[in-house]
Order: sequence, then structure tokens, then C-alpha cells
Amino acid sequence: MKTFNVCIVGGGSTYTLGFLKSFVRLKEEFPLKRLVLFDIDKERQEPIGKYGEILFGERFPELDFVYTQDAKEAYEGMDFVFMQMRAGGLQMRAKDEHIPLGMGMIGQETCGAGGMSYGLRSCVDMIKSIHEIRTYAPDAWILNYSNPAAIVAEALRREFPDDKRILNICDQPENVVRSCSRLLGCNWEDLDPVYFGLNHFGWFTHMYDVHTGEDLLPKIREMIKERGFLPQDAEQRDQSWLDTYGMVQTIMADFPDYLPNTYDQYYLYPEYKASHLNPDFTRADEVMAGREKRVFTECAEVIKEGKLGDRFHAISDAHAEMMIKVAEAIAYNRNDRHILIVENNGAIANMQDDAMVEVVCELGINGPRPMRVGRIPQFYLGLLVNQVSCEKLIVDAYFENSYQKALEAFTLSRLVNDAKKARKLLDALIEANKGMWPELR
Ligand code: G6P
Ligand code: MN
Repeated sequence: MKTFNVCIVGGGSTYTLGFLKSFVRLKEEFPLKRLVLFDIDKERQEPIGKYGEILFGERFPELDFVYTQDAKEAYEGMDFVFMQMRAGGLQMRAKDEHIPLGMGMIGQETCGAGGMSYGLRSCVDMIKSIHEIRTYAPDAWILNYSNPAAIVAEALRREFPDDKRILNICDQPENVVRSCSRLLGCNWEDLDPVYFGLNHFGWFTHMYDVHTGEDLLPKIREMIKERGFLPQDAEQRDQSWLDTYGMVQTIMADFPDYLPNTYDQYYLYPEYKASHLNPDFTRADEVMAGREKRVFTECAEVIKEGKLGDRFHAISDAHAEMMIKVAEAIAYNRNDRHILIVENNGAIANMQDDAMVEVVCELGINGPRPMRVGRIPQFYLGLLVNQVSCEKLIVDAYFENSYQKALEAFTLSRLVNDAKKARKLLDALIEANKGMWPELR
């Protein structure tokens, strides 16, 4: 049986433990030969690496497992590179969230000014990393879910136009499908969605039952109206995520046609959201106080005890399992359906060809084959054209070192929407991102 070599870039991420456990759980269906964790932050990665050594020693001793800061050692011979880097770390995520919110605008990891701030940092680091990967692993599949995925995808499209083995992906559409399955009491894999949008800004137009062909969206709409909406793994989520899923009920009351991606809340209710978020304690703070502590505490305990004990079953790994399934679809040419970020080229008929859109694709060894959704209604088109323009302008700002383009991107964002505010916010973020952004002139 073929075995695979996988590298995770961003080995020190709080998501890595989920991957390590999932690679053990899925070792029959996606058998690894070599697994490498790569991170430029040695201190962060080390406890996770040591945890991995103990875990694999117990449950996957034949695996060649390494953690390193050396690019050559990390990338050579890889079949798949999973990219989950966080340019600037959680400290900078906090700034992306705090600074706009302090001025009364949404501060969010991927949406609005916060997303553009993170986007410029990610353009710098992602492009550099992918050049490095291509030096040592010219044919590896690069599965990118580093954020902000929309902006990163647009930047990679321009920097690597002929590279057909870079795949941009986000787990949130699948998370929403899973939430629907919780509501309906079915298996999420029994649901076959139709979806359109941009990354973190999209809608489900249908949700078919794979067994009967029935479109369950009308039923889902009624159920959400009556009961609200919860993440599939609600019991393990922080309050802010429960609030976010709760907003789906509000969105559907105002715009009942489709089922929204949870991120739509920021674009549709920017004032309401900004006034209900605490500028001194945002999601970044919640992550640092919660998930990050839990992960590194677990590592410390396992390292101290020298064994995993019953911790193996402790974490749900929807995210890791989805990314591994995506790799499997490619590796085994399965043509499975996944919602992916791809160049539009007619998938959404009335949107520009060179927009990076998020739609259902069939995925196999030759990459994604997007499924067409036809023309979308004017309301949705208007929202998406506005947002895709922000994304393109901020990537222009990166490639052209252009302050003007960045100002246009900020001004156009629904979450800023005013040129004076945009300039003030942009100037503050330039200051905060010194050394991590390209120089804007
Ligand atoms: C979802 C999104 C990711 C995002 C994550 C943030 O999974 O698809 O793009 O990074 O949520 O979650 P967090 O728990 O860090 O706020
Ligand atoms: Mn995402």
C-alpha cells in the first residue's frame, strides 16, 4: 500500500495536536511514512513535537516523525504540505482585533480591517514559504488553510499562476454542514450542499439528502427559526462561537433565501457586531486564555508523565479530519466533493473570471473541478463584488507597495466604509505591523 510523506507548516499551532491524533486514527485509510512538523518558533513547536514523539511511540511506532526548523529537512520528499501558519502569531491577531474595535469598527481575524492587516502579513510570509517549499519539493501538493484565506488565495494566484498544486481551503462551510446534520439528526456526510461565495462570505442555496434527493434547506430554515443554530461540537465551544452560530437565526430572519456562512454576520450587521464585542477582550484573548492554555497544558502533562494515557480520545478533530480527507481525495483520485477556494472562471456566472470564489468542487489528482452555480441574485452579487474588490485591492497594495490601494481597500470595506476612518485605521495598522508588512508608499 502506498504511504505518504506529510509536512505541517505551523507545527506550533494549537491545531496540531488534533492532526497528530487524527493521523493515528486514520492510519489505515491515509497511511503516513514520514511526518514533519515545521515552525520558525522553536519554543512553541517543541512541546508539541515531544508530545508527538510520545503519542507515535505508543500508537504508530513505524512512523518516521520529526520536528524541525530547517526548511530542507522539512520539505524534501514531501507529498503533501499542510499550511497553517499564523503570520505574527496570536499577539498580532489580538492587535488586528483590538485596534479597529477601539475605533468602533469590527476587529476580526479575517474580515474587515483586521483581516486586511493580517492579510498583508500573510502575503509576505506565505509567498516566501511557498518559494522555499518549491525549492525542495517541486511536486508536493500544498494544502493551504492559512488565513485570511481569501486574500492569501488571491496573492498566490498572482505569484504562482502556473502552479496547479496549491489548494486553498477553509473548514467553515463544512462546519456549517455538520451543524445542519446535528439539527436534522443525520450524518453530515449524508448532506450534499450547493454553495457560493468568497471565503468567509458565502451561502448555501441547497442542502440535498444524498439518499432521497430531497432539498432539506426549507426544513433547515424552519428548524433554525424555531430552535436557533448550534455548532456540531457546541459542547466544546467558547461562548463567542455559540453567539456566532446564534446569529444565523437573525440572518435568516432578514434574508430567508439561503443558509449563510457564519462569517456573513460581520458584513450584514457591522454596527451591531462592533457594539457587542469587547475591544479589550476579543477572540484572540479568548483563544490565548482557553485553547492555547489547554493545548500546552496537555503537552506539559504528557511530557511529564511520558505517556498519553486516556487523553487520546479527548479532542474532537473535525478540522484535521477534513484536511486529511482532502489529501485523500487527491491521493486516491476520488473526486470527492469539497467546498474549495478556486478561480471563478464562470462558476458564478455573473462574477468576474479572476475572482477567487468558494464553491463546491470535485477533487481528484488533477485538482479541483468547480461546480457551476449559475447567476446569483443582485443582492448577493453586490455584496460579493464589493468584498472581492477589497481583497484584490489589498493584494495590489502588497505587490505594488501602494498606500493608495490599501486606502481604497479599507474605504471600500463594508466594515469601515468611510475614507477618513479608513485612513486613520490604516495608519494605526501600519504602525502596529512595522517590519511585518511590505512598506507602503
Ligand atoms: C474557523 C475558520 C478559520 C478560523 C477559525 C478561527 O474554523 O474557518 O478560518 O481560523 O474558525 O477559530 P478560533 O477558534 O481561532 O477563533
Ligand atoms: Mn476559514
